[in-house]
Amino acid sequence: MGVTIHRVHTSTLPADDDHPYRSGAWRPQHIEYDATNLRCEGVIPDDLDGVYLRNTENPLHPNIERYHPFDGDGMIHMMSFSNGEAVYRNRFVRTRGLEIEAAAGSAQWSGLAESPLTSPRPDGWGARTRMKDASSTDVVVHGGLALTSFYQCGDLYQLDPRTLADKGRATWNGDFPACGVSAHTKVDEHAKELLFFNYETTAPYMHYGVVDADHHLVHYVPIELPGPRLPHDMAFTENFAILNDCPLFWKPDLIARGIYATTWNPDIPTRFAIVPRRGSSQDVRWFEADPTYVLHWINAFEEHDHEGHWVVLDGFFQYDPSPSVPPDADLNTRMFRFLDLYAMDSRPYRWRFNMTTGETREGPLDDRVTEFGMTNGLHQGRAYRYYYSVVPTPGCFQFDGITKNDLLTGASESYMFGPGVFGSETVMAPRPGATSEDDGYLITFVSDVPNDRSECLIFDAQSVVAGPICRLHLPERISSGTHACWSSTEQGA
Ligand SMILES: [Fe+2]
Repeated sequence: MGVTIHRVHTSTLPADDDHPYRSGAWRPQHIEYDATNLRCEGVIPDDLDGVYLRNTENPLHPNIERYHPFDGDGMIHMMSFSNGEAVYRNRFVRTRGLEIEAAAGSAQWSGLAESPLTSPRPDGWGARTRMKDASSTDVVVHGGLALTSFYQCGDLYQLDPRTLADKGRATWNGDFPACGVSAHTKVDEHAKELLFFNYETTAPYMHYGVVDADHHLVHYVPIELPGPRLPHDMAFTENFAILNDCPLFWKPDLIARGIYATTWNPDIPTRFAIVPRRGSSQDVRWFEADPTYVLHWINAFEEHDHEGHWVVLDGFFQYDPSPSVPPDADLNTRMFRFLDLYAMDSRPYRWRFNMTTGETREGPLDDRVTEFGMTNGLHQGRAYRYYYSVVPTPGCFQFDGITKNDLLTGASESYMFGPGVFGSETVMAPRPGATSEDDGYLITFVSDVPNDRSECLIFDAQSVVAGPICRLHLPERISSGTHACWSSTEQGA
């Protein structure tokens, strides 16, 4: 393996750190590497041509009081593939917050599990204000740039998808929204558009927008909500964007006191805003459905039948969005119950909205607890057959395996990583000249805690159960984290 150290960042975390999300599979890194000639078990497919990008949380300083894993600074891991060879590198996202805290040598903003009122600095980012924009949630590739984002809304940081060189913040020629952009921007590979939303605690509470391939903001409209909400993800079809209003949200009277505790309102329906992709606020069609909270959507598409024009939306329905904890539960159990996908009972689900009649139909797609669904990116917004999701680790925010579901036959198959080995969000990389939707590869990073190493695993997407066809060893064990993406060379990576 040819490894060079690009930069070592200063960490002020304790050497004997035992925080559950700063140890084990979540042990943060502070060293940036470039690596070639990676130790390889198996063969790298010579038609795999593009980059796998993965965002992870890597705190460099202890929080003021309580650390939450979503506070950690964003670090992108990149594995590029071309002609049967792979190159790895990792880089912190050069956020403004990272620079300010590096200069101070300590945390300068309060985190998700702390009150904004206790933040050392009066400025900051995020819908709840006075947070650090860690840009650690999501990553996509659009218009030739990797864009990292933060779930509480913030800047979009631009990186070269292969070198991970810092390309500054997206400005959209001065049109970038003052309240920022939420994680889960969506790339339509056919229209070459970036669709996005943001949210804030003042009316109209949400906006939706479109950015073209040249990074120009070409559409931006308010989506009026009845109050402050916590949307995490959006979906799209060929003609519509789909925003959501789930009944798990901050209480306005508590916000006024600086308290951002979420409350579950089981008597309020979930509402869906379906808006033409270039539509105005007046064009929004609202649909109601059973109350739930949805962290991530899988896909959406349109279809027509004798009953009318349907918008079909698939995602992970939480049957218990606000899990209770025993009265004597310790602080960590209380704080991290929203990170246990089993506790929230998150399972694949389908909503069908009839644009002709206004009817909503809904019901389960699968009875297994899964999340972080991925599809062949060329089928996003369009009819599709397969999705790939993670099998969560009971009790914590880690992933034990991956599952492939066939919506046509109802069949599913899984691969489990093994004891103490935890995976990443797993992307599907279509094979050039693919002859079917699942003709391609699945790619993930794993963190093998017992052996203290990380690998990049490559699967044949047509046979997940067969296990990886290739394992590439990384220079250092990576921290578990959140989202990932695939971008082929043809798509601009
Ligand atoms: Fe997410």
